[in-house]
Amino acid sequence: MTILVTGGAGYIGSHTCVELLNNGYEIAVLDNLSNSSEEVLTRIREMTNKSFMFYKGDLLDKDFIKMVFQKNRIEAVIHFAGLKAVGESVQHPHLYYQNNIMGTLHLLEVMDQYEIRKIVFSSSATVYASSQPMPLSENSITKAINPYGRTKLMIEEMLADYYQANPKWSCVVLRYFNPIGAHQSGEIGEDPNGIPNNLMPYLTQVAIGKLNELKVFGNDYPTPDGTCIRDYIHVVDLAKGHIKALNKVQIESGYYTYNLGTGGGYSVLEVIQAFEKATGKKVPYSIGGRRQGDVPICYADTSTSKMELLWQATKSLEEMCKDAWNWQTQNPNGYKIIDHATLNSNN
Ligand code: NAD
Ligand code: WQD
Repeated sequence: MTILVTGGAGYIGSHTCVELLNNGYEIAVLDNLSNSSEEVLTRIREMTNKSFMFYKGDLLDKDFIKMVFQKNRIEAVIHFAGLKAVGESVQHPHLYYQNNIMGTLHLLEVMDQYEIRKIVFSSSATVYASSQPMPLSENSITKAINPYGRTKLMIEEMLADYYQANPKWSCVVLRYFNPIGAHQSGEIGEDPNGIPNNLMPYLTQVAIGKLNELKVFGNDYPTPDGTCIRDYIHVVDLAKGHIKALNKVQIESGYYTYNLGTGGGYSVLEVIQAFEKATGKKVPYSIGGRRQGDVPICYADTSTSKMELLWQATKSLEEMCKDAWNWQTQNPNGYKIIDHATLNSNN
């Protein structure tokens, strides 16, 4: 039996594929490579010494999804595929509603048709309403403030409705906090297109000299050092959470929601300090204005995932920084392979 991983070539998907393969699961990866590279699949195969099928194609193409279900004995789906840039979603809401909502609807329709009703879905802490008491539990108030967040909330509600309509469905929604870091081998990691939006990839690109300095978005927040606090979680801890979620959908039907975070938070300045300590690299930074949409503090209550999924994050902020830096230094151009022979012949 095979676990279908949509978006398995992406940042979190690739780390989860490694955990799945190392735990003896057979997998198939479906990805349109719109935000990833085929090189990651080669690396996963090398790291795990395991083989698996890769289907390059789009969730917007229902016949393509059917073909993948026809060719494999799929038992459950881990659904990562989606667009995730908040700013882009504000500029191009149609793209987000089409890709994330339509893509998921197609997937669910084909799953239903093939009577495969076990799904683990990538949601986000971004679904929680701002200005509420911390830590955020799964029962905290939800209210998304941008199209990206709304697609996540809508998909959560869709899954709840599917379960309501047919109790054979087993859906685990995982709300990730701030995933950072990379596999400790340095073989796979986060490879954003263009200038990164998120703190850690921006910081590592400053540290390696690709970007000049990090701009800290505001130091006048109601936090001890004035900079925003987030619940950063090592991507490998997050990936392991998916194995637990998969165990859950394999043994019982239902609709469940879990936070995947560490349960604590660090400020932007604390992240910079931890990075400098873990790597010995200085990070040039300056204080800038606030970024629109940022909340001062956000961290998870992880007691339900501990109790029900038997999962908890174990890696420290220093490890997250060390592994992010290891990935950055081993792969200064991410997965892009620079062909020096061609470069030289063009010069
Ligand atoms: P990612 O962009 O690295 O991975 C997503 C993958 O999905 C990419 O490989 C992309 O090519 C693929 N994809 C996108 N649309 C597709 C489509 N229509 N058909 C087939 N493939 C498609 O992102 P990630 O950081 O690995 O995030 C994975 C999931 O987790 C996403 O759903 C994201 O919204 C969610 N999430 C991410 C974070 C984060 O900070 N990285 C936080 C919370 C939730
Ligand atoms: C972290 C902190 C910034 C960059 C985002 C999405 C969220 C989820 C996770 C998908 C904040 C500060 C950042 C920089 C900075 N993704 N910062 N300078 O905003 O908490 O969450 O990723 O679901 O939906 O919104 O993460 O890494 O962008 O920012 O000072 O150049 O770092 O202000 O306090 P965020 P982030």
